[in-house]
Amino acid sequence: MEEQDWVRVVADATWAPSILDTQPWRFVAGPDRLDLFFDRERALPVLDPTGRQQVISCGSALEFAVVALSAAGSDGAVDLLTDDGDPDHLATIEVTGTRDPSDEDRGLAAAIDRRHTVRAPFESRAVPADLVDRLQEEAGLLDTWVKPITRSEEEVATVVLVSRAEEMEQGAAYLAEIQRWMRTDPGAVDGVPVEAVPSGNPHARPSNWLIRDFVAGEREQSPFLPAGDPDAPPPEVEGPLVVLMGTGGDDRYDWLQAGRGLGRILLHATAAGVAASPLTQALDWPATRTRLQSRLSLVGHPQLLVRLGYPPQTPTGAVSGRRPVEDVLTFVPG
Ligand SMILES: Cc1cc2nc3c(=O)[nH]c(=O)nc-3n(C[C@H](O)[C@H](O)[C@H](O)COP(=O)(O)O)c2cc1C
Repeated sequence: MEEQDWVRVVADATWAPSILDTQPWRFVAGPDRLDLFFDRERALPVLDPTGRQQVISCGSALEFAVVALSAAGSDGAVDLLTDDGDPDHLATIEVTGTRDPSDEDRGLAAAIDRRHTVRAPFESRAVPADLVDRLQEEAGLLDTWVKPITRSEEEVATVVLVSRAEEMEQGAAYLAEIQRWMRTDPGAVDGVPVEAVPSGNPHARPSNWLIRDFVAGEREQSPFLPAGDPDAPPPEVEGPLVVLMGTGGDDRYDWLQAGRGLGRILLHATAAGVAASPLTQALDWPATRTRLQSRLSLVGHPQLLVRLGYPPQTPTGAVSGRRPVEDVLTFVPG
């Protein structure tokens, strides 16, 4: 692979979702391999002290790289957590040969820069069952289960835990960390743009599912959050499909696989016109995470809740930025 080929692959990889758009990754490319490292300088010590959600984020960047590589006509073998003494070395993709990209390879790669987290309420039509089956299969290939939260007692238990977690997330250190990653500059290359977050109180959204309150503590004095239109008709209550993704174990290997599963299902969903937003408050805190495990009688460890549905016809919210490839990719000589 030439350097410019890796630049294209890594540019695609960086479009992966990451917690608070921290993009906690670095890549090193050689002639036939790409190594992925965790970038500790972008850690979230309050919200994600074990690095679980950031390693998941790196896993989805890894899967986006695999998809980009396949569409560019190369096969890659993925090796996770090679035992080379560097705890930040998360994965290696070794180029093993060439391939004729299939229509699916191209379709998934084309979804990479069309996918964005959509937090606005979704349309009321349901996500088709065959797509849900496909997402379960795809994640299953990466050791990750996907459980739709459809039974009403499970939905109630999950909604209650999400709300409880949202209440717990009012501490000063947590709010300061969120605030550090919110962006008002339209040219920002990382962090969550304020316009990507629906304005107004998340408790007043037409949904059972509370999205993360990115501007808690700021709402009163915020100059950038427009007031709602008091004469607007009440919006239809959305009925998203919420799925819980989880793994058998709960270490870095499992987190990487969950991230790869997330990356892959988001691309399949996008290709099918379905949008998503992760909803991970309930999993930030050991207490609510363990409670979710027991309330839903889960075998294994919950890693992510994801809200899926058809996005509103008119796009709402800003697209989050990405760091330039030269900031995240270095080359080793061949
Ligand atoms: C592990 C993980 C957890 C996330 N948790 C949330 C969340 O709780 N609420 C939310 O609105 N977005 C969440 N996100 C989405 C990120 O905020 C989003 O990916 C990032 O801001 C980049 O924007 P994009 O997905 O539109 O490219 C999460 C993403 C990841 C990978």
